[in-house]
Amino acid sequence: MSIEEKAVRKVVIAGNWKMHKTQAESLEFVQGFKAAVENADETRDIILCTPFTSLAIMSKNLHGSRIKLGAQNIHWEDQGAYTGEISGGMLTEIGINYVIIGHSERRQYFGETDETVNLRLRAAQNHGITPILCVGETKAQRDAGETENIIINQLKKDLVGVDQNDLIIAYEPIWAIGTGDTCESIEANRVIGVIRQQLDNKDVSIQYGGSVKPGNIDEIMAQPEIDGALVGGASLEPDSFARIVNYN
Ligand code: 13P
Repeated sequence: MSIEEKAVRKVVIAGNWKMHKTQAESLEFVQGFKAAVENADETRDIILCTPFTSLAIMSKNLHGSRIKLGAQNIHWEDQGAYTGEISGGMLTEIGINYVIIGHSERRQYFGETDETVNLRLRAAQNHGITPILCVGETKAQRDAGETENIIINQLKKDLVGVDQNDLIIAYEPIWAIGTGDTCESIEANRVIGVIRQQLDNKDVSIQYGGSVKPGNIDEIMAQPEIDGALVGGASLEPDSFARIVNYN
């Protein structure tokens, strides 16, 4: 993998706010953040994945800015009796361009399976929303030497009928999420290389996620296979997330 090959792929830095911030708190974040990333390298895509309740007001507020918005889930049907779910049409109406699908927290706590992940991925693409597909292994799976198998299996099932020209993947080792225990950048680079080998489109942007911080982003982004970051905790504070967007 040469630097030239990496250069053709898009750099995507996304914040996943999970279940954090009211509308007022979201708007407060943007006040400081907008100016701090205004001069960021223009080849970098910047995405904020906020709770559903903040998306509409954020969309109005960020209109005309380079900061894009993502949702944290999408249902596969356009409408119907699915209490608590949100459809693609509801997201595109308010200008949402991205959606996180298959995050390990949804798989672990809300019964998301590779089958429902696949349905959601295809629904997003049908609505012109670019999905960010999350894959990754648990600590027990890693310790048992199953990392590659788990991820290859997730990709095989998740990507059936999915257009790889409209896709972002995030490698998020579950043991590194919210723990401060970042995956070594060389190891993240290695696993992301394995992910890329499974793809028909080798130019899919593949992010790393799991305890990304201002203090480790430069080293992570220096890795040839890593095209961006999906950031949880460190995306909640404008200075911290701006430093990550403005990595060296
Ligand atoms: P942290 O950055 O808080 O570890 O979360 C990572 C994550 O799950 C992003 O989707």
